[in-house]
Amino acid sequence: MQSLLALAFAFVLPLIRAQVPHWGPCPEPSVQPGFNLEKFMGRWFEIAKLPAQFEKGRCIETNFTLTTDNSIRVVSSEILKGELRKIQGTGVVEDLKNPAKLGISYSYVLPYSPYWILSTDYVNSALVYSCTDILRLFHVDFAWILGRTRTLPESTLKRARQIFANNSIDVTRMIPSKQQGCDKYL
Ligand SMILES: *[C@@H]1O[C@H](CO)[C@@H](O)[C@H](O)[C@H]1NC(C)=O
Ligand SMILES: *[C@@H]1O[C@H](CO)[C@@H](O)[C@H](O)[C@H]1NC(C)=O
Repeated sequence: MQSLLALAFAFVLPLIRAQVPHWGPCPEPSVQPGFNLEKFMGRWFEIAKLPAQFEKGRCIETNFTLTTDNSIRVVSSEILKGELRKIQGTGVVEDLKNPAKLGISYSYVLPYSPYWILSTDYVNSALVYSCTDILRLFHVDFAWILGRTRTLPESTLKRARQIFANNSIDVTRMIPSKQQGCDKYL
């Protein structure tokens, strides 16, 4: 048990420094009913995120493509220190009864992290949540508001924050992502 704890904390400590962990297990938010994976594919811009990662790049976007074997190719890109950087990952539907509960991994050596689509209209915005239980004692979570365009109306953002909050997800520390001055890199 002790070594398990040590391992857990070795893994968790870097995360804790980046954000505030919450006591107790992950919340169980409702996800998009009747989720249509195909309509979700394509290009999404990161409009806002939790936790704040000030050191990270800007112009963050992800391109999802359905591959023939029903997995998802995930290509995320950002501009960091003036350079366009891309990473490729893989997405899967983790639970066929809950197709809005995806898992995404950016490395063969890492397990899939939850990537749950709480709500989306496919053409304007999407709310994504990822939460990991640590020994059911506490949890670390991530949340994103994604847009099909680099900006979304304030009313959409307000409603998005409300949906998170209604699902017991604390987004008071959510910060806007930088999506200005991006197009000259394309
Ligand atoms: C997204 O990926 C698809 C398939 O690889 C590609 O055809 C498309 O051009 C990409 N879109 C963007 C905006 O990168
Ligand atoms: C959030 O919950 C409140 C209270 O139940 C409700 O009035 C509101 O419509 C909900 N908002 C959204 C966006 O679901």
